[in-house]
Amino acid sequence: MAKTVRVGVIGTGGIATRQARRLAELDDVEIVAGCDVSEENLRKFAEKYEVPHTFSDFNEMVQLEEMDAVTVCTPNYMHKDPTIAALKAGKHVMVEKPMAMNAGEAQAMVDAAEQSEAELTMGFQFRLAPEAQAIKRFVDEGRLGKVLFARCQALRRRGIPSWGVFGQKELQGGGPLIDIGVHIMECAHYLMGEPKPVAASAQIFTYLGNREPAAAAPWGPWDWKTYTVEDLAIGIIRFDNGAVMSVESSFAAHIKEDVLNCQLMGEEGGCVLHPPTIFADQAGTMINIEPHYVGKYQAMDKKIEDWIGRVRGEVETQCPAIAGLHVQKMLDGLYASAEAGKEVPIE
Ligand SMILES: NC(=O)c1ccc[n+]([C@@H]2O[C@H](COP(=O)([O-])OP(=O)(O)OC[C@H]3O[C@@H](n4cnc5c(N)ncnc54)[C@H](O)[C@@H]3O)[C@@H](O)[C@H]2O)c1
Repeated sequence: MAKTVRVGVIGTGGIATRQARRLAELDDVEIVAGCDVSEENLRKFAEKYEVPHTFSDFNEMVQLEEMDAVTVCTPNYMHKDPTIAALKAGKHVMVEKPMAMNAGEAQAMVDAAEQSEAELTMGFQFRLAPEAQAIKRFVDEGRLGKVLFARCQALRRRGIPSWGVFGQKELQGGGPLIDIGVHIMECAHYLMGEPKPVAASAQIFTYLGNREPAAAAPWGPWDWKTYTVEDLAIGIIRFDNGAVMSVESSFAAHIKEDVLNCQLMGEEGGCVLHPPTIFADQAGTMINIEPHYVGKYQAMDKKIEDWIGRVRGEVETQCPAIAGLHVQKMLDGLYASAEAGKEVPIE
Protein backbone atom coordinates (compact mmCIF):
# COMPACT_ATOMS: atom_id res chain seq x y z
CA MET A 1 0.00 0.00 0.00
CA ALA A 2 1.27 3.48 -0.89
CA LYS A 3 2.20 5.84 1.93
CA THR A 4 -0.65 8.22 2.77
CA VAL A 5 -0.01 11.74 1.47
CA ARG A 6 -1.24 14.33 3.97
CA VAL A 7 -2.28 17.53 2.21
CA GLY A 8 -2.96 21.06 3.45
CA VAL A 9 -5.03 23.57 1.44
CA ILE A 10 -4.27 27.31 1.63
CA GLY A 11 -7.22 29.36 0.43
CA THR A 12 -10.43 27.32 0.63
CA GLY A 13 -12.53 29.05 -2.03
CA GLY A 14 -13.67 27.97 -5.49
CA ILE A 15 -10.69 26.17 -6.95
CA ALA A 16 -9.72 24.61 -3.62
CA THR A 17 -13.13 22.97 -3.47
CA ARG A 18 -12.63 21.59 -6.98
CA GLN A 19 -9.19 20.24 -6.07
CA ALA A 20 -10.43 18.82 -2.78
CA ARG A 21 -13.13 16.84 -4.55
CA ARG A 22 -10.48 14.81 -6.37
CA LEU A 23 -8.11 14.67 -3.40
CA ALA A 24 -10.90 13.23 -1.28
CA GLU A 25 -11.61 10.55 -3.90
CA LEU A 26 -8.03 9.29 -4.02
CA ASP A 27 -6.86 6.36 -1.95
CA ASP A 28 -4.13 7.11 0.54
CA VAL A 29 -4.63 10.88 0.49
CA GLU A 30 -5.92 12.85 3.46
CA ILE A 31 -6.73 16.55 3.64
CA VAL A 32 -5.30 17.25 7.08
CA ALA A 33 -5.39 21.05 7.16
CA GLY A 34 -7.12 24.08 5.71
CA CYS A 35 -6.26 27.75 5.97
CA ASP A 36 -8.31 30.79 5.05
CA VAL A 37 -8.81 34.36 6.20
CA SER A 38 -12.52 33.90 5.54
CA GLU A 39 -13.99 32.07 8.53
CA GLU A 40 -17.05 31.13 6.54
CA ASN A 41 -15.17 29.59 3.62
CA LEU A 42 -12.87 27.73 5.98
CA ARG A 43 -15.72 26.38 8.10
CA LYS A 44 -17.68 25.14 5.08
CA PHE A 45 -14.58 23.55 3.57
CA ALA A 46 -13.51 21.89 6.83
CA GLU A 47 -17.00 20.51 7.41
CA LYS A 48 -17.38 19.17 3.89
CA TYR A 49 -13.99 17.47 3.76
CA GLU A 50 -13.74 16.64 7.49
CA VAL A 51 -10.50 18.57 7.85
CA PRO A 52 -9.08 18.17 11.37
CA HIS A 53 -6.78 21.24 11.52
CA THR A 54 -7.82 24.75 10.53
CA PHE A 55 -5.79 27.96 10.49
CA SER A 56 -6.24 31.61 9.61
CA ASP A 57 -2.47 32.15 9.19
CA PHE A 58 -0.58 30.07 6.62
CA ASN A 59 2.69 30.64 8.52
CA GLU A 60 1.27 28.56 11.37
CA MET A 61 -0.25 25.97 9.09
CA VAL A 62 2.98 25.17 7.25
CA GLN A 63 4.61 24.19 10.55
CA LEU A 64 2.15 21.32 11.00
CA GLU A 65 4.29 18.19 11.40
CA GLU A 66 1.66 15.77 10.17
CA MET A 67 1.44 17.37 6.69
CA ASP A 68 3.54 16.47 3.62
CA ALA A 69 2.29 18.83 0.94
CA VAL A 70 0.38 22.04 0.41
CA THR A 71 -1.77 23.31 -2.43
CA VAL A 72 -1.86 27.11 -2.73
CA CYS A 73 -5.31 28.23 -3.89
CA THR A 74 -5.33 31.85 -2.74
CA PRO A 75 -5.82 34.87 -5.02
CA ASN A 76 -2.79 35.67 -7.16
CA TYR A 77 -1.34 38.35 -4.88
CA MET A 78 -1.12 35.71 -2.18
CA HIS A 79 0.68 32.93 -4.10
CA LYS A 80 4.30 33.83 -3.41
CA ASP A 81 4.35 34.11 0.40
CA PRO A 82 2.52 30.87 1.28
CA THR A 83 4.50 28.99 -1.38
CA ILE A 84 7.84 30.14 -0.02
CA ALA A 85 6.76 29.58 3.61
CA ALA A 86 5.67 26.02 2.83
CA LEU A 87 8.85 25.20 0.87
CA LYS A 88 10.97 26.56 3.74
CA ALA A 89 9.03 24.28 6.10
CA GLY A 90 9.92 21.33 3.84
CA LYS A 91 6.43 20.80 2.38
CA HIS A 92 5.89 20.01 -1.29
CA VAL A 93 3.80 22.70 -2.96
CA MET A 94 1.49 22.98 -5.92
CA VAL A 95 0.56 26.57 -6.75
CA GLU A 96 -2.44 27.62 -8.81
CA LYS A 97 -2.17 29.63 -12.02
CA PRO A 98 -0.93 32.20 -12.76
CA MET A 99 2.21 31.46 -10.79
CA ALA A 100 2.46 34.91 -9.22
CA MET A 101 1.85 38.62 -9.70
CA ASN A 102 5.01 39.02 -11.79
CA ALA A 103 8.18 37.22 -12.87
CA GLY A 104 10.15 38.63 -9.91
CA GLU A 105 7.82 36.85 -7.51
CA ALA A 106 7.83 33.71 -9.64
CA GLN A 107 11.64 33.69 -9.67
CA ALA A 108 11.72 33.99 -5.86
CA MET A 109 9.42 30.95 -5.68
CA VAL A 110 11.64 28.94 -8.04
CA ASP A 111 14.70 29.95 -5.96
CA ALA A 112 12.97 28.86 -2.74
CA ALA A 113 12.24 25.50 -4.32
CA GLU A 114 15.87 25.09 -5.32
CA GLN A 115 16.92 25.73 -1.73
CA SER A 116 14.34 23.31 -0.34
CA GLU A 117 14.26 19.54 -0.28
CA ALA A 118 10.63 19.82 -1.21
CA GLU A 119 9.39 20.34 -4.77
CA LEU A 120 7.33 23.13 -6.30
CA THR A 121 4.84 22.09 -8.98
CA MET A 122 2.94 24.52 -11.20
CA GLY A 123 -0.80 23.93 -11.15
CA PHE A 124 -1.30 24.11 -14.93
CA GLN A 125 -3.86 21.60 -16.17
CA PHE A 126 -4.60 22.46 -19.82
CA ARG A 127 -1.44 20.64 -20.97
CA LEU A 128 -2.65 17.51 -19.19
CA ALA A 129 -5.98 17.31 -21.02
CA PRO A 130 -6.32 14.22 -23.24
CA GLU A 131 -6.57 16.38 -26.40
CA ALA A 132 -3.36 18.24 -25.51
CA GLN A 133 -1.53 15.00 -24.72
CA ALA A 134 -2.60 13.52 -28.07
CA ILE A 135 -1.40 16.60 -29.96
CA LYS A 136 1.85 16.57 -27.98
CA ARG A 137 2.60 13.03 -29.14
CA PHE A 138 2.23 14.14 -32.79
CA VAL A 139 4.52 17.14 -32.17
CA ASP A 140 7.10 15.00 -30.36
CA GLU A 141 7.11 12.48 -33.22
CA GLY A 142 7.99 15.36 -35.54
CA ARG A 143 4.71 15.18 -37.48
CA LEU A 144 4.44 18.99 -37.52
CA GLY A 145 8.13 19.57 -38.30
CA LYS A 146 9.48 22.80 -36.89
CA VAL A 147 6.64 24.70 -35.19
CA LEU A 148 6.61 28.25 -36.53
CA PHE A 149 3.52 29.79 -35.01
CA ALA A 150 1.04 29.23 -32.18
CA ARG A 151 -2.24 31.10 -32.16
CA CYS A 152 -3.83 31.31 -28.69
CA GLN A 153 -7.39 32.48 -28.13
CA ALA A 154 -9.12 32.82 -24.78
CA LEU A 155 -12.01 35.07 -25.69
CA ARG A 156 -15.20 35.66 -23.74
CA ARG A 157 -17.97 37.87 -25.02
CA ARG A 158 -19.13 38.91 -21.53
CA GLY A 159 -17.39 36.70 -18.97
CA ILE A 160 -16.31 39.09 -16.26
CA PRO A 161 -16.30 37.17 -12.96
CA SER A 162 -18.82 38.62 -10.51
CA TRP A 163 -17.06 37.03 -7.49
CA GLY A 164 -13.56 37.18 -6.02
CA VAL A 165 -11.06 39.90 -6.93
CA PHE A 166 -10.68 39.19 -10.66
CA GLY A 167 -11.30 42.82 -11.67
CA GLN A 168 -8.74 44.33 -9.30
CA LYS A 169 -5.32 44.71 -10.84
CA GLU A 170 -3.48 45.25 -7.57
CA LEU A 171 -4.79 41.92 -6.18
CA GLN A 172 -4.74 39.88 -9.41
CA GLY A 173 -1.83 41.29 -11.42
CA GLY A 174 -3.96 41.57 -14.57
CA GLY A 175 -7.20 40.68 -16.31
CA PRO A 176 -8.17 38.03 -18.88
CA LEU A 177 -4.59 37.70 -20.08
CA ILE A 178 -3.31 36.35 -16.76
CA ASP A 179 -6.57 34.67 -15.81
CA ILE A 180 -7.68 32.74 -18.91
CA GLY A 181 -5.10 33.62 -21.57
CA VAL A 182 -2.55 31.97 -19.31
CA HIS A 183 -4.29 28.59 -19.65
CA ILE A 184 -4.08 28.45 -23.40
CA MET A 185 -0.64 30.08 -23.51
CA GLU A 186 0.86 27.52 -21.13
CA CYS A 187 -0.69 24.73 -23.18
CA ALA A 188 0.51 26.10 -26.52
CA HIS A 189 3.99 26.78 -25.14
CA TYR A 190 4.16 23.19 -23.86
CA LEU A 191 3.02 21.84 -27.24
CA MET A 192 5.66 23.97 -29.00
CA GLY A 193 8.38 22.36 -26.87
CA GLU A 194 8.76 25.35 -24.51
CA PRO A 195 11.13 27.58 -26.52
CA LYS A 196 12.70 30.54 -24.69
CA PRO A 197 10.65 33.75 -25.05
CA VAL A 198 12.81 36.72 -26.08
CA ALA A 199 10.45 39.60 -26.90
CA ALA A 200 6.84 40.68 -26.42
CA SER A 201 4.57 43.15 -28.12
CA ALA A 202 0.99 43.87 -27.03
CA GLN A 203 -1.88 46.26 -26.68
CA ILE A 204 -4.54 46.09 -23.96
CA PHE A 205 -7.95 47.77 -23.79
CA THR A 206 -10.37 48.54 -20.93
CA TYR A 207 -13.70 49.77 -22.25
CA LEU A 208 -16.61 47.67 -20.89
CA GLY A 209 -15.68 46.27 -17.48
CA ASN A 210 -15.18 49.70 -15.95
CA ARG A 211 -18.65 51.06 -16.76
CA GLU A 212 -22.17 50.20 -15.75
CA PRO A 213 -23.19 47.05 -17.69
CA ALA A 214 -25.21 47.90 -20.78
CA ALA A 215 -26.48 44.33 -21.20
CA ALA A 216 -27.32 41.39 -18.95
CA ALA A 217 -24.26 39.17 -18.44
CA PRO A 218 -24.33 35.39 -17.87
CA TRP A 219 -22.45 35.63 -14.56
CA GLY A 220 -24.49 38.57 -13.28
CA PRO A 221 -23.34 42.10 -12.54
CA TRP A 222 -19.71 42.56 -11.57
CA ASP A 223 -18.23 45.34 -9.46
CA TRP A 224 -17.53 47.77 -12.30
CA LYS A 225 -16.52 50.56 -9.92
CA THR A 226 -13.43 48.64 -8.75
CA TYR A 227 -12.64 47.19 -12.21
CA THR A 228 -9.08 48.12 -13.13
CA VAL A 229 -7.92 45.24 -15.37
CA GLU A 230 -8.06 45.01 -19.16
CA ASP A 231 -11.12 43.73 -21.05
CA LEU A 232 -9.11 42.68 -24.09
CA ALA A 233 -5.43 41.91 -24.64
CA ILE A 234 -3.78 41.26 -28.00
CA GLY A 235 -0.14 40.25 -28.10
CA ILE A 236 2.77 38.60 -29.87
CA ILE A 237 5.65 36.70 -28.26
CA ARG A 238 8.85 35.96 -30.17
CA PHE A 239 11.02 32.97 -29.21
CA ASP A 240 14.75 32.34 -29.51
CA ASN A 241 14.18 29.62 -32.16
CA GLY A 242 12.37 32.11 -34.42
CA ALA A 243 8.88 30.82 -33.58
CA VAL A 244 6.07 33.21 -32.73
CA MET A 245 2.97 33.00 -30.52
CA SER A 246 -0.01 35.31 -30.80
CA VAL A 247 -2.52 35.71 -28.00
CA GLU A 248 -6.02 37.17 -27.97
CA SER A 249 -7.73 37.20 -24.59
CA SER A 250 -10.87 38.93 -23.34
CA PHE A 251 -13.30 39.03 -20.44
CA ALA A 252 -15.52 41.23 -22.60
CA ALA A 253 -15.53 41.78 -26.35
CA HIS A 254 -18.09 42.26 -29.08
CA ILE A 255 -17.74 38.81 -30.65
CA LYS A 256 -20.18 36.10 -31.73
CA GLU A 257 -19.14 33.48 -29.21
CA ASP A 258 -16.53 32.50 -26.64
CA VAL A 259 -13.38 30.75 -27.87
CA LEU A 260 -10.80 28.82 -25.84
CA ASN A 261 -8.44 27.18 -28.27
CA CYS A 262 -5.03 27.14 -29.88
CA GLN A 263 -3.59 26.22 -33.26
CA LEU A 264 -0.02 25.37 -34.18
CA MET A 265 1.45 25.82 -37.64
CA GLY A 266 4.61 23.90 -38.47
CA GLU A 267 6.77 23.31 -41.54
CA GLU A 268 5.38 19.78 -42.02
CA GLY A 269 1.95 20.06 -40.48
CA GLY A 270 -0.41 21.97 -38.26
CA CYS A 271 -3.02 21.25 -35.63
CA VAL A 272 -5.86 22.62 -33.61
CA LEU A 273 -6.52 21.63 -30.00
CA HIS A 274 -10.35 21.56 -30.04
CA PRO A 275 -11.54 19.35 -31.57
CA PRO A 276 -8.07 17.82 -31.82
CA THR A 277 -7.09 17.69 -35.49
CA ILE A 278 -3.80 17.41 -37.37
CA PHE A 279 -3.38 19.05 -40.78
CA ALA A 280 -0.79 17.54 -43.12
CA ASP A 281 0.07 16.63 -46.71
CA GLN A 282 0.12 12.92 -47.46
CA ALA A 283 0.00 10.96 -50.75
CA GLY A 284 -0.16 14.21 -52.71
CA THR A 285 -3.22 15.33 -50.77
CA MET A 286 -3.96 17.78 -47.98
CA ILE A 287 -5.47 15.68 -45.19
CA ASN A 288 -6.97 16.22 -41.77
CA ILE A 289 -6.35 13.61 -39.07
CA GLU A 290 -9.00 13.42 -36.37
CA PRO A 291 -8.18 11.11 -33.48
CA HIS A 292 -10.99 8.65 -32.89
CA TYR A 293 -10.50 8.55 -29.11
CA VAL A 294 -8.02 10.45 -26.96
CA GLY A 295 -9.16 9.55 -23.44
CA LYS A 296 -11.92 10.88 -21.29
CA TYR A 297 -10.53 12.11 -18.00
CA GLN A 298 -10.81 15.61 -16.50
CA ALA A 299 -7.59 17.61 -16.76
CA MET A 300 -8.09 18.98 -13.24
CA ASP A 301 -8.32 15.44 -11.84
CA LYS A 302 -5.18 14.48 -13.72
CA LYS A 303 -3.36 17.49 -12.30
CA ILE A 304 -4.19 16.35 -8.77
CA GLU A 305 -3.28 12.72 -9.48
CA ASP A 306 0.03 13.70 -11.09
CA TRP A 307 0.92 15.99 -8.23
CA ILE A 308 0.21 13.32 -5.62
CA GLY A 309 2.18 10.82 -7.72
CA ARG A 310 5.04 13.31 -7.88
CA VAL A 311 4.93 13.91 -4.10
CA ARG A 312 5.30 10.16 -3.73
CA GLY A 313 8.18 10.22 -6.22
CA GLU A 314 6.33 7.91 -8.59
CA VAL A 315 5.97 10.10 -11.72
CA GLU A 316 7.78 12.90 -13.55
CA THR A 317 5.85 16.14 -13.50
CA GLN A 318 4.65 17.71 -16.76
CA CYS A 319 4.25 20.98 -14.83
CA PRO A 320 7.59 21.97 -13.29
CA ALA A 321 7.85 25.34 -11.55
CA ILE A 322 10.11 26.61 -14.33
CA ALA A 323 7.18 26.33 -16.78
CA GLY A 324 5.26 28.75 -14.55
CA LEU A 325 8.20 31.16 -14.58
CA HIS A 326 8.49 31.07 -18.39
CA VAL A 327 4.81 31.85 -18.83
CA GLN A 328 4.98 34.58 -16.18
CA LYS A 329 7.82 36.22 -18.10
CA MET A 330 5.68 36.21 -21.24
CA LEU A 331 2.75 37.77 -19.35
CA ASP A 332 4.99 40.44 -17.82
CA GLY A 333 6.48 41.17 -21.24
CA LEU A 334 3.05 41.63 -22.81
CA TYR A 335 1.92 44.08 -20.12
CA ALA A 336 5.26 45.93 -20.24
CA SER A 337 4.96 46.27 -24.01
CA ALA A 338 1.40 47.57 -23.76
CA GLU A 339 2.58 50.19 -21.29
CA ALA A 340 5.64 51.14 -23.34
CA GLY A 341 3.77 51.18 -26.64
CA LYS A 342 6.49 49.13 -28.35
CA GLU A 343 8.06 45.66 -28.39
CA VAL A 344 10.07 44.91 -25.24
CA PRO A 345 12.76 42.27 -24.64
CA ILE A 346 12.08 39.38 -22.29
CA GLU A 347 15.16 38.72 -20.12
N1 LIG B 1 -6.63 26.12 -12.63
C1 LIG B 1 -7.83 26.63 -12.84
O1 LIG B 1 -8.57 26.25 -13.76
C2 LIG B 1 -8.32 27.73 -11.94
C3 LIG B 1 -9.69 28.05 -11.91
C4 LIG B 1 -10.10 29.05 -11.03
C5 LIG B 1 -9.18 29.73 -10.25
N2 LIG B 1 -7.86 29.41 -10.33
C6 LIG B 1 -6.86 30.15 -9.53
O2 LIG B 1 -7.03 29.80 -8.16
C7 LIG B 1 -6.76 30.93 -7.33
C8 LIG B 1 -7.97 31.19 -6.44
O3 LIG B 1 -9.11 31.43 -7.26
P1 LIG B 1 -10.60 31.08 -6.74
O4 LIG B 1 -11.47 31.21 -7.91
O5 LIG B 1 -10.59 29.82 -5.94
O6 LIG B 1 -10.81 32.35 -5.78
P2 LIG B 1 -11.75 32.41 -4.51
O7 LIG B 1 -11.89 33.87 -4.21
O8 LIG B 1 -12.96 31.58 -4.71
O9 LIG B 1 -10.90 31.70 -3.34
C9 LIG B 1 -9.71 32.24 -2.79
C10 LIG B 1 -9.72 31.95 -1.30
O10 LIG B 1 -8.46 32.40 -0.74
C11 LIG B 1 -8.76 33.01 0.52
N3 LIG B 1 -7.66 33.87 0.93
C12 LIG B 1 -7.37 35.15 0.55
N4 LIG B 1 -6.27 35.58 1.19
C13 LIG B 1 -5.84 34.56 1.96
C14 LIG B 1 -4.74 34.40 2.88
N5 LIG B 1 -3.87 35.38 3.11
N6 LIG B 1 -4.61 33.21 3.54
C15 LIG B 1 -5.49 32.21 3.32
N7 LIG B 1 -6.57 32.31 2.49
C16 LIG B 1 -6.72 33.47 1.83
C17 LIG B 1 -10.06 33.74 0.26
O11 LIG B 1 -10.71 34.09 1.48
C18 LIG B 1 -10.83 32.70 -0.55
O12 LIG B 1 -11.54 31.80 0.28
C19 LIG B 1 -6.42 32.08 -8.28
O13 LIG B 1 -5.04 32.17 -8.39
C20 LIG B 1 -7.04 31.66 -9.60
O14 LIG B 1 -6.35 32.19 -10.71
C21 LIG B 1 -7.42 28.41 -11.14
